[in-house]
Amino acid sequence: MSGIHELPLELLACPYDGAALTFAEGDSISCAAHHRFGCFEGVPDFVPGSDNQARTAESFGAKWEIYRDEDQAASNAFQFRWYYERYGFADEAEFAAFLADKRTILDAGCGLGRDVDRYARLSSAEVVGFDLSSAAARALRVYGGERRHFLFGDILRPPVRPRAFDFVVADQVIHHTPATPRAFAILAERVAPGGQIAVYVYRRKALLRELADDTIRELTTPLTHDEAVEVAEQFTELGRELSHLNATITLERGIPLLGIDAGEHDVQRLIYWHFLKCFWNDELGYDQSVLCNLDWYHPPYASRHTPDEVAGWCTEAGLDVVHLDVGDSGISVRARRPA
Ligand SMILES: C[S@@+](CC[C@H](N)C(=O)[O-])C[C@H]1O[C@@H](n2cnc3c(N)ncnc32)[C@H](O)[C@@H]1O
Ligand SMILES: [Zn+2]
Repeated sequence: MSGIHELPLELLACPYDGAALTFAEGDSISCAAHHRFGCFEGVPDFVPGSDNQARTAESFGAKWEIYRDEDQAASNAFQFRWYYERYGFADEAEFAAFLADKRTILDAGCGLGRDVDRYARLSSAEVVGFDLSSAAARALRVYGGERRHFLFGDILRPPVRPRAFDFVVADQVIHHTPATPRAFAILAERVAPGGQIAVYVYRRKALLRELADDTIRELTTPLTHDEAVEVAEQFTELGRELSHLNATITLERGIPLLGIDAGEHDVQRLIYWHFLKCFWNDELGYDQSVLCNLDWYHPPYASRHTPDEVAGWCTEAGLDVVHLDVGDSGISVRARRPA
């Protein structure tokens, strides 16, 4: 475990006023203006509370609680492969080469911490991960250690210094904030000259899927965690049964109005992409597939974006796009701050 006194304070800042931080009595940290930050479950806590954000924290915190250790290895392998594909790295070796000159890395919305651990393992950088939810406490328990630091923090009031990080990542995170473009700008501002940012956000989907998502989410986001899990299970079972049909249909003309291409469609994929998110993946299995659906329908915020919007955020922040991957589900961008 990495204790509070091992924190690289030179990379951190007061979330209220950006002031430098110092260690204070007990296990606490204070800023020049005397804001005080203690620990919660051993994790330095830099989150100034607010209602909806608290709900995001709750939704994800509960999600992580049902996440079983034995599922994690399979999920990590899947996520790492997908990460390299999206951000434009051939494999882990190429990614390690990219990290070789990085001295400081920030993982904003680090969740369970698997990426913080991976960055520290593949580089010699100090790696700081923060998250709004109790996931940060679990991350500290599982991955805390040398060059692996975990905090409670909010991207919209980040506890880290501007221009201090050679690599800033927010993977599958900022669409869950109430102000996605602002979250991007704030994180871009943490990138040091010559450094890079990597961000994944949900992509805007086809017409009926967007309408359905907005309407269904109005019903599902207020549910309790257990109620939402039940709905997510029902959607998952629909996805599984459709998927196991192994059925395809061919549409000669497609339906351009609804974003449906001409050609052959797997029935589950056709419904999934154009009408209703009913995720199913045989490799991930039932529980992980349920989590994926829960992740879509329960968090209070889940904004969707276009490639042009994402490229525009980079330009506005003074960053040059290095790699832009437009997938069916989301957009991954890597952008660089000129030296
Ligand atoms: C889908 S998870 C992704 C976690 C991790 N990056 C990964 O790739 O596995 C989204 C995470 O973002 C966190 N999150 C949402 N809003 C946040 C905010 N404003 N500040 C920090 N973390 C936030 C959630 O608590 C959750 O752990
Ligand atoms: Zn302060």
